[in-house]
Amino acid sequence: KAFITGINGQDGSYLAEYLLEKDYDVYGIVRRNSVAEHQESRINHLDGLVTTEYGDLLDVSSLERMIRTIKPDEIYNIAAQSHVKISFQIPEYTSDVNALGPLRLLEIIRHYKRKKIKFYQASSSEMFGKSKPPQNESTIFQPRSVYAISKIFAFNSVVHYREAYGIHASNGILFNHESPRRGNSFVTKKIVESIAQIKSGKIKSFKLGNLDAERDWGYAPEYVEAMWLMLQQEEPSDLVIATGETHSVREFIERAFKIAGYKIYWEGNGLDEVGKCSESNEVLVSIDPYYFRPTEVDTLHGNASKAEKILGWKAKTKFNELVKIMMEFELKKN
Ligand code: NAP
Ligand code: GDD
Repeated sequence: KAFITGINGQDGSYLAEYLLEKDYDVYGIVRRNSVAEHQESRINHLDGLVTTEYGDLLDVSSLERMIRTIKPDEIYNIAAQSHVKISFQIPEYTSDVNALGPLRLLEIIRHYKRKKIKFYQASSSEMFGKSKPPQNESTIFQPRSVYAISKIFAFNSVVHYREAYGIHASNGILFNHESPRRGNSFVTKKIVESIAQIKSGKIKSFKLGNLDAERDWGYAPEYVEAMWLMLQQEEPSDLVIATGETHSVREFIERAFKIAGYKIYWEGNGLDEVGKCSESNEVLVSIDPYYFRPTEVDTLHGNASKAEKILGWKAKTKFNELVKIMMEFELKKN
């Protein structure tokens, strides 16, 4: 039996599918939304296959009730206020959910002695912050946002509960991973969605922030497999999961436009920089400082060789293929 927090998120939904294929009984908590369709929007197709209840990482009694009634073998804590930029606006809430949420779960596990529950924590490459690339398990954390700080608190809680109480608790330090199910306020999904809308004539252009940030972007369905593998090991551990390839936001834009049949070129500098269509010379992309962050993580580039050695896991889908999957999905939708 598996209990997934954040089951309706990008990763939670792929993880639920993955565990169902492995014959798990899958349970999860969902949050009330004023628009009923949004509550289970990414897992509607799993209706009748997974069991969900209302719950929240801020509501201990809902977590305790779920764990005591389900008696899960594995808990995947995937839920979070997962948007880095938004953590600058709601730092206290972000910390309550992302830092204290996992601590609440670990405390429940610690006091629930019936059987050994294995625990997975969704840690993040954002914790590395300004540490120089490539980053691996020995790289120090130099956080650049409250999101990262909250994730470091959770990371350390996992290590502590493992050492102090012998809990099988592991941190997956996942680098950015995307998919057609990615939320559209994250840069990759925003880019492909906007390009598809340009192509279908719904919009003329779109605005972005820092084009020079570099990320190690992988494919989400492969990353949930690494989560499961980590809990199948005799010894819990903390592992980096990444592709080992890094590309800029700018490269992502160029590649996505190319797949959609456009060639673009860049003109101007700083806030005045624009991306124009080579054929029509019309502006397709411009800069809006609203999307800048007070502090930025410039480059993330993961080294996942430890995960390859311990789990036998390696990223298969690299940058070009990922952009293709995401762009083609949006083009078909529009
Ligand atoms: P996501 O799509 O934003 O999903 C997050 C899920 O958490 C959503 O289902 C959300 O519920 C739920 N949630 C938010 N606050 C909650 C709360 N207080 N109580 C219960 N549930 C709550 O994020 P994701 O991309 O799948 O990422 C999954 C996890 O991995 C997150 O912890 C994220 O921080 C971490 N992570 C992600 C990446 C990445 O590149 N994707 C990389 C490293 C780490 P609603 O459906 O109601 O919104
Ligand atoms: N969201 C967004 N929107 N980002 C933009 C934009 C924009 O309009 N324009 C440029 N960017 C830049 C951001 O400044 C950042 O450097 C980069 O694009 C990626 O931003 P996001 O897609 O929002 O992801 P993230 O790297 O900040 O965070 C994601 O990855 C982390 C792992 O490293 C999230 O999934 C986190 O939950 C995750 O922990």
